[in-house]
Amino acid sequence: MKKIIVALDGHSSCGKSTMARWLAREAGYIYVDTGAMYRAVTLFALRQGFFSADGTLDAAALEQALPGLRVDFARKASDGLPRVQLSGEDVEEEIRGMQVSSHVSPVAALPFVRKAMTAAQQAMGHEKGIVMDGRDIGTAVFPEAELKIFVTASAEVRARRRYDELTAKGQKVDYAEILRNVQERDYIDSHRETAPLRCAADALVLDNSRMTREEQNEWLLQAFRERTNQD
Ligand code: DC
Repeated sequence: MKKIIVALDGHSSCGKSTMARWLAREAGYIYVDTGAMYRAVTLFALRQGFFSADGTLDAAALEQALPGLRVDFARKASDGLPRVQLSGEDVEEEIRGMQVSSHVSPVAALPFVRKAMTAAQQAMGHEKGIVMDGRDIGTAVFPEAELKIFVTASAEVRARRRYDELTAKGQKVDYAEILRNVQERDYIDSHRETAPLRCAADALVLDNSRMTREEQNEWLLQAFRERTNQD
């Protein structure tokens, strides 16, 4: 069976990573969470003090430091799942908190950050057999991807899912703040100048607001099979 590139784009917190991870395992493909890469750069900027108290980012300082930064993935021995690394340090847990979530959009909007991450992502997909999730995979990173999926769900459903996820991890969070963060990120991600979040013309659209995990997986596998059995 021919190997393809699967591009999974869509709004934040709509279960893209869960879908992508599941499909990659089913297909025996590599899974890449590109959001984790933007989050890792954001963590770096926070640690370096590139954000001032009022949330303004010193983009020039980040641009100067970026070439010295390595963002990649290492597989965890126990479950084989990729974990994002910041110049060799495993930061997979740290990038998921609210601090990184509320600072990531301006970092992801910077053209020089996008350029560096896009180049790294294209190198990872060189041999195909990859499921990549993000915002611009089907439009900017791999416009020639054989299967493009655009996932969405209502902002309230997505905020609830994120709330449940963080609460399950023992984090004390506020639903209203999460909803605001989801809406804010939607807005910035869709209105930035470089590679904004938009649905590729040839993408299949999936609104999973009312779907169970099983229904979603079935839909995904069907779409994957149709593409890999073609020609
Ligand atoms: O998927 P996520 O929530 O972990 O993504 C974190 C942020 O990174 C989100 O605000 C959008 C941005 N992002 C992006 O601009 N392009 C991507 N390919 C992936 C994520």
